[in-house]
Amino acid sequence: MYQPFVLALLRNPRQIGAVVPSGQSLARAMAIAAAPSGKRILEIGPGTGAITKALLAEGATPDQLCLLERDTKLTIYLTEKFPGVRVINGDARSIADVVQPKSGSCFDIVISSLPLLNMREADKITILDQVFSILDPQGALVQYTYSAKAPISPSLTNRFGVKGERTAMIFRNLPPASVWKYCHPRMYEV
Ligand SMILES: C[S@@+](CC[C@H](N)C(=O)[O-])C[C@H]1O[C@@H](n2cnc3c(N)ncnc32)[C@H](O)[C@@H]1O
Repeated sequence: MYQPFVLALLRNPRQIGAVVPSGQSLARAMAIAAAPSGKRILEIGPGTGAITKALLAEGATPDQLCLLERDTKLTIYLTEKFPGVRVINGDARSIADVVQPKSGSCFDIVISSLPLLNMREADKITILDQVFSILDPQGALVQYTYSAKAPISPSLTNRFGVKGERTAMIFRNLPPASVWKYCHPRMYEV
């Protein structure tokens, strides 16, 4: 798993945005936050597939998953590693152009390893705009960060009308990471 990651890192360090793939504990915490069973899931920036593997272990079936990865070599690696999973080589800034959900018009979960904090504000806005437009109104975006701060700033959560909560902190990951889940506010009202 490390070799394809390191080669991708050498090809494009800024795009990869991390020095190691997600550790097992982090990948599991992401999958638990997604509660994947029976959901239509889009994973963006899957890298070497640590989170994909955890989603499958937590009850997702290959046909529920769609992966969108910008690095061509990692896309080939993922296609070979996860038979039956739809893997698309493309840019999350054009999600709506490259990804069509298999059934219905929306995904229930978008799960992201994108290095959002490294990205230009304009790119973040473009990506989040598309993420929240392809998500079911009751769906959620799950994102991790290595920062102590939330991966999406308050000005952007306000802009998209979503609310975030930290669902896990993983001190055992290197570096330590937090998992955040973003939903439309009515999902918090019981
Ligand atoms: C931090 S790495 C992913 C780590 C992954 N969880 C793993 O365990 O390997 C971020 C990934 O996002 C991908 N990426 C970055 N920008 C992207 C974009 N605009 N669209 C799609 N993928 C992108 C990178 O190519 C890289 O594979």
